[in-house]
Amino acid sequence: MKEMKNTPRILDGVAIAGQIKDEVAVEVKELAARGITPGLAVILVGEVPASQIYVRSKVKTCGELGIYSEMLTPPESITTDEMLALVAELNAREDIDGILIQLPLPKHVDTKRLLEAVSPDKDVDGFHPVNAGRLQSGQPGLAPCTPAGIIEILKRSDLPISGQNAVVVGRSDIVGKPAAMMLLNASATVTICHSKTVDLPGITRGADLLVAAIGRPGYVTAEMVKPGATLIDVGINRVTDAAEVERFFPGDAKRAASFAKRGSVVVGDIDPAAFAIAGAYTPVPGGVGALTIAMLMKNTVTAAKLRRGISLKEG
Ligand code: GUN
Repeated sequence: MKEMKNTPRILDGVAIAGQIKDEVAVEVKELAARGITPGLAVILVGEVPASQIYVRSKVKTCGELGIYSEMLTPPESITTDEMLALVAELNAREDIDGILIQLPLPKHVDTKRLLEAVSPDKDVDGFHPVNAGRLQSGQPGLAPCTPAGIIEILKRSDLPISGQNAVVVGRSDIVGKPAAMMLLNASATVTICHSKTVDLPGITRGADLLVAAIGRPGYVTAEMVKPGATLIDVGINRVTDAAEVERFFPGDAKRAASFAKRGSVVVGDIDPAAFAIAGAYTPVPGGVGALTIAMLMKNTVTAAKLRRGISLKEG
């Protein structure tokens, strides 16, 4: 029998993020008509280059959508107590609806304590235990941006969630756990896998919907994927080894040229070879990552509304 060539659907995160940002801009205009400007404060400690790039991008997007933003840049030497005082000030400010503490923080700073110090109503990252609890119990609140972005991609691409076997690889508080909870809330049958999981391929092969969030380049291989599955790749890993680049992208002249120029190539948590047998997949870059900032903007507007008792559907 002649073998049919599989043509997987590429889920364009950039386009979906664009739609969401357009919708947020409309909501911001509606709030402006009522004299309200949503405000986001971003705390960036020290000089971590990757964090600086992310934060600049967040602040820039605020500007594009009409959201007020403020960047606070304390030095690396700041103490937990000084950070707590900074957060308390922002909690008390009427013009600030969202507070984001860019992670990772320096080792000497107590990250857990700080994340718990952010008012749950201003916790636009959705990292506060109160918001984790709200998500778990199905109450309105602020949900973590990356997992919320995954759900948006699936819904806006008309991909089913209800009744699907969803497997989440990775159990972080920021992505894996909340992603599993959101998929469960949308009536998927959810399995969470992690580094101690026995027979990971046996489980992932049963997935209609596979979310990879472990932070290891190409960890999920083609042999671990059911043909036709939807693959959601949350990983953003920089590969700096030429042999690895060739292994992930054999014969890919464009990537080889990019590697020669920059000395690294970005690879997700899913081996690109697995995408070829998928039904649909999110590319890296241009997939889930593109949604994170859009969802942060949406959460900032949501926080501005919730804090003022404005219904979310009312616009
Ligand atoms: N560092 C990397 N991603 C994130 C994020 O989504 N939020 C925060 N606060 N820090 C991060």
